[in-house]
Amino acid sequence: MESNRIIIFDTTLRDGEQTPGVNLNLTEKVEIAKQLEALGVDIIEAGFPAASNGDYAAVKSVAETVNCTVAALCRCITADIDRGWDAVKKAKKPRLHLFLATSEIHMKYKLKTTPEEVFDRAVSCVQYAKTLCNDIEFSCEDASRSDPEFMYKVLQAVIDAGATTVNIPDTVGYKIPNEFGAFIAAIKENVPNISNAIISVHCHNDLGLAVSNTIVALQNGARQIETTVNGIGERAGNCALEEVIMALATRKDLFNLTHNINTSAIYRTSKRISKLTGVPIHVCKPIVGDNAFAHESGIHQHGVLTNPLTYEIMTPQSVGKTESTLVLGKLSGRHAFSAHLESLGYHLTKEKIDDAFARFKELADKKKKITDEDLEAIVLDNASDIPQLYKLEDFKLTTCANSLSKIEITLRCGDRILSDVYMADGPITTTYSALAKLTDGQWPLASYDIKAIPEGDDALGEVVVRLRKNDRQYTGRSVSHNIIEASILAYLDSVNRAMADVQ
Ligand code: KIV
Ligand code: ZN
Repeated sequence: MESNRIIIFDTTLRDGEQTPGVNLNLTEKVEIAKQLEALGVDIIEAGFPAASNGDYAAVKSVAETVNCTVAALCRCITADIDRGWDAVKKAKKPRLHLFLATSEIHMKYKLKTTPEEVFDRAVSCVQYAKTLCNDIEFSCEDASRSDPEFMYKVLQAVIDAGATTVNIPDTVGYKIPNEFGAFIAAIKENVPNISNAIISVHCHNDLGLAVSNTIVALQNGARQIETTVNGIGERAGNCALEEVIMALATRKDLFNLTHNINTSAIYRTSKRISKLTGVPIHVCKPIVGDNAFAHESGIHQHGVLTNPLTYEIMTPQSVGKTESTLVLGKLSGRHAFSAHLESLGYHLTKEKIDDAFARFKELADKKKKITDEDLEAIVLDNASDIPQLYKLEDFKLTTCANSLSKIEITLRCGDRILSDVYMADGPITTTYSALAKLTDGQWPLASYDIKAIPEGDDALGEVVVRLRKNDRQYTGRSVSHNIIEASILAYLDSVNRAMADVQ
């Protein structure tokens, strides 16, 4: 009998990190891993160690930090498997995740090989990986466009070779739900030893069907699902963890499935990952978007006041979304401050608490109400360990309606002081032109976003900037009561990341 416990394999740190413009450093990845563990995921895919030294180091650090299973992604290449194993071997529960494409289009044009060679390579690599690690996952990349008969043979052989989980990715987000459900059911029927492995699915969202395909796969016998928080990932992203979990929770009448996710940690995790990755959450995004529980029309508002169930199928509290409260004030001490951060799930070093406390005091002088969101903004602004090559010393900006803006700005770069006076049209163009000149970057601005947190009159400005250097984008972010200062600091964060070439 099939178990009704499902395994949540989170790939925010691997597939999610493949979102264009996202490049997390080691500290940020470890921070996210801790948050994912607190959320209750079973497996964290921490990265692709053979891809870069930065990825290797991050996977190793995550493996040595958390208690849940940590997976390393590897191509079916011995050197990748060795590198992956080296990165995860100290994890309490290590997993090697091997992948090889089985669709004709991938075998012919990408791998330039034959199905026979793919079969042999898959088997020999799983056999080799099994000599290192007991927990082996094998993925047939582009499974959903593969010839089913060939895929069944590969699955049977890799299970015989030692794979304990077989993953069926809809790599290009191509399948339609009833078709994908039947595809999974057919694997159960046609792979004779399938009961020796767990069936996993990994759905991309190119047609907006990743969550539906994941759910229908569960209904047809999959027991591991691969997700990312906020659905981030390659192209249109991956199956959003929060959406699939809340679908299962809201429609328990249909699904008799259990998991280990603490739904009340969803909102906080989503916000934190959005901040650390710099990928904003659309206001209408299900579950975690700002409007997900907002009722605009009078009829809806009246209904909800009378009985919330009229227009709400789940409560904001169930995902941990509560009113932003006044938590600390100007007179709060360091002890109360650090205790409150602990209660929000931030376990910071003494040094980081000192920095954050200094910023809190500065802010408390300017802003009457300090909320949880403000505190999170301060802490996350301080979370990065990127070498601060360029630092802001001072600036003065003058701007008015009908003439050029003017900035006088001073930066520090090591022992050097760099100053400039620049005039141009509009305060941000002026500021960013001066910064480009001073930092010798001249990298094109890919995007600039500004948002008030929390909303209201007394808000902080949060700025997220993306600079394009060669074929990569570097995301910088900052918050300040002064939006020009936040804009400068976010720009410098992005430059400092590009200079450190964080991978
Ligand atoms: O989308 C995909 O096929 C993948 C595999 C590496 C699992 O991400
Ligand atoms: Zn993927």
